[in-house]
Amino acid sequence: MDGNGRWAKQKGLIRAIGHENGTKSVRETVEAATEIGIENLTLYAFSTENWNRPKLEVDTLMKLLVSSLKKEISTLQENNITLNAIGDLHNLPKKVLKELKEVIEKTKNNTRMTLTLALSYGSRAEMLNAIKEISLKVKNNIISAENIDESIINEHLYTQNLPDVDLLIRTSGEQRISNFLLWQIAYAELYFTNSLWPDFTKQHLCDAIIEYQKRERRFGKTSEQIS
Ligand code: IPE
Ligand code: MG
Repeated sequence: MDGNGRWAKQKGLIRAIGHENGTKSVRETVEAATEIGIENLTLYAFSTENWNRPKLEVDTLMKLLVSSLKKEISTLQENNITLNAIGDLHNLPKKVLKELKEVIEKTKNNTRMTLTLALSYGSRAEMLNAIKEISLKVKNNIISAENIDESIINEHLYTQNLPDVDLLIRTSGEQRISNFLLWQIAYAELYFTNSLWPDFTKQHLCDAIIEYQKRERRFGKTSEQIS
């Protein structure tokens, strides 16, 4: 979800207003995704690298997170959505973590869609963590090095309960991945739009999905094998 700052700047407003308007796009996208029948939606809300932003902006984003969680819990329940979070969550302020855990607990039995927030998330940090955990298990003879396979790696990532990514959407005209789910997007279809995140609507999501439906996913095979 990129482009909140530029959206605000274009309008002569402070960055915080951009972030605030970004939350409207979050709500619209989540609602649209449930209507469409998407079972998993992951939003890159705050990266490991975002901690390096000015303190005031980080504080604003954390406050916005707490207020959004408080405000949206009822929407999540009404729409039968489970909340999930991935990232180095222990780095989040206590207040955020408490609210987050509460909403995760309250929505855990919902079944229509899993909404995952990537918070304090970095794919390299996630992989590093997995490597450390696996190494420790090898050292303690819980698993043998020869038996390490892709499924064992999957089980040690924060996304252990999630399927691989099918479609990755990046807004704001940037064409990079920025340390997001690097392992999990191995065969994802990439979609880039110039829309700034606060301008992203249900229509933009539908456009991305229509484009996705036109793609032929071959997973290394030939076109003939797929059809
Ligand atoms: C995305 O918008 C929101 C977060 C990263 C939290 P940006 O804040 O990155 O907006 P730009 O890139 O400055 O426009
Ligand atoms: Mg940005």
